[in-house]
Amino acid sequence: MAERIFIGVAWPYANGPLHLGHIAGAYLPADIFARYHRLKGNEVLMVSGSDQHGTPITLRAEQEAVSPQEVASRYHEQFVDCWQKLGISFDLFTSTGTANHAHVAREIFLDLLDKGYLYRDNMPQAYCPRCQRFLPDRYLEGTCPHCGSPGARGDVCDECGKPMSNVDIQGFHCRFCSSAPRFEVSEHFFLRLSAFEDKIRSWMAEQSFWRRNVSGTTRKFLDEGLKDRAITRDMDWGVPVPQAGFEHKRIYVWFEAVIGYLSASKEWAMLRGEEEAWRPFWQEKTKSFYFVGKDNIFFHTVVWPVMLMGCGNLNLPYDIPANEFLTIEGKKLSTSRNWAVWLSDYLERYDPDPLRYALAANMPETGDADFSWREFLRRNNDELVATYGNLAHRALTFAYRNFAGKVPAPGELDDESKRLLCKAEETLRVVDDALCRRSFREALRGSMALAQEANRYLEEQSPWKKGKEDAGSSARSIYTVLSVLAALKTIMYPFLPFSSEKLHSMLGFEGKVADVGWQWQSLPPGQKLTEPQPLFKKLDSEIVDQETCRLPGGQ
Ligand code: MF3
Ligand code: ZN
Repeated sequence: MAERIFIGVAWPYANGPLHLGHIAGAYLPADIFARYHRLKGNEVLMVSGSDQHGTPITLRAEQEAVSPQEVASRYHEQFVDCWQKLGISFDLFTSTGTANHAHVAREIFLDLLDKGYLYRDNMPQAYCPRCQRFLPDRYLEGTCPHCGSPGARGDVCDECGKPMSNVDIQGFHCRFCSSAPRFEVSEHFFLRLSAFEDKIRSWMAEQSFWRRNVSGTTRKFLDEGLKDRAITRDMDWGVPVPQAGFEHKRIYVWFEAVIGYLSASKEWAMLRGEEEAWRPFWQEKTKSFYFVGKDNIFFHTVVWPVMLMGCGNLNLPYDIPANEFLTIEGKKLSTSRNWAVWLSDYLERYDPDPLRYALAANMPETGDADFSWREFLRRNNDELVATYGNLAHRALTFAYRNFAGKVPAPGELDDESKRLLCKAEETLRVVDDALCRRSFREALRGSMALAQEANRYLEEQSPWKKGKEDAGSSARSIYTVLSVLAALKTIMYPFLPFSSEKLHSMLGFEGKVADVGWQWQSLPPGQKLTEPQPLFKKLDSEIVDQETCRLPGGQ
């Protein structure tokens, strides 16, 4: 029976370009999962958008002396362009800057307020006398009281990941002028997280399938006790607080951004001209998945679920398959130090599938994973080109030249061929199961194993060495490999959508890969092939030096 699958993907701050850490952390696994479920015939809604509010944007705008809106719009456009080029197949990628989002955020705010889950309290806020303004989270720097690291900001310590309020932070100073701020009391709204501790605990106890890092991080927060959190801030960029006297305050970016999942679903429904189409995904049986990086776990396993529980009639997350971090050439990725590989740079120079492949094959699912150009080159040349691409190319060109551009009739199959076809059948099952469990690396390994096996078979059979007298045996082996390719173009589709479409049409199929769903499309003998083109390009080993030179220090 078809399932309903909601996929929410972390909303990237529109304050800078996307890098490979974003992609490996959230967008690629989400897209693989969405494509897989669409193939399975499930009803999928995958949404996200750019996170346009909060101090990440205002900081950037101040640095550039432009308006926050200008910054947000610029990066939003870049994001959309990147998704299209990398094949991240959102049903809607919107932004938190829409009137719809502000409206939905206001509704949730008022609903929670009405139910007593928000309350007012005074909060000491750091105020910089020199700059003459309140200093929100990220405008404050100091030492983390938990781990002693110097780079802690007002909201979270980047080093140990502990959240903090700006009063915790030691030796803090204004990020702009370095003067010591003073505290001024200001009234804010707080979310009663503390009231939900037991509810979150018992809900989490049922989610036995969460990844270890996800349940571990969440449990840590619960064990320390959930503290109520301020959800408004003294600033003028963001969603207004719908209460008199709060004109100079805004809803805190985190409280408001997670609401984006719901507002985007509503916007998607409106754009389809079926205003109520969001409801089944939020109010009927649906599995909801949230793909986020590890620094976002708390907001998706605690804060957002509390807000949803508070509202009462909205589905809770089913799983939050958060990934760990991606390191670059063995070092921690850092956007401020420019130690990163920028997605738009990559896409200017290379095809999307090799990146999808390299990142999926070494996805930071169970621990941090490293991206290096040498490894990227090896994955492209030795795995994509030499194994999968080579298999496709040899079989297709042989058929194209020797069987008049058609799929040959296999005659009777021998044991070897039957064994390979069985393996293809089994791979379809094994990969299905791994994808369903969000084990993407394992799924890709299983898919590639089939290509390797087929390559070995083709090597053994070597139809090109057989003379005219043995045309029957070449027809059999070529048919067998083409048929395995007809399975591979579907199995590989979630990972490598662009090359799967190419292979699909080279095999002579009409329409799109996704039209046939998650099944082995049968390949009728006599089907006309289209002219074979290489699936992947071999890359020159020089790119390793060229690319590492772009990193700071030129390596
Ligand atoms: N923009 C934030 C970040 O990149 C939050 C993303 S997830 C959201 O860390 F759902 F809250 F938007
Ligand atoms: Zn200052």
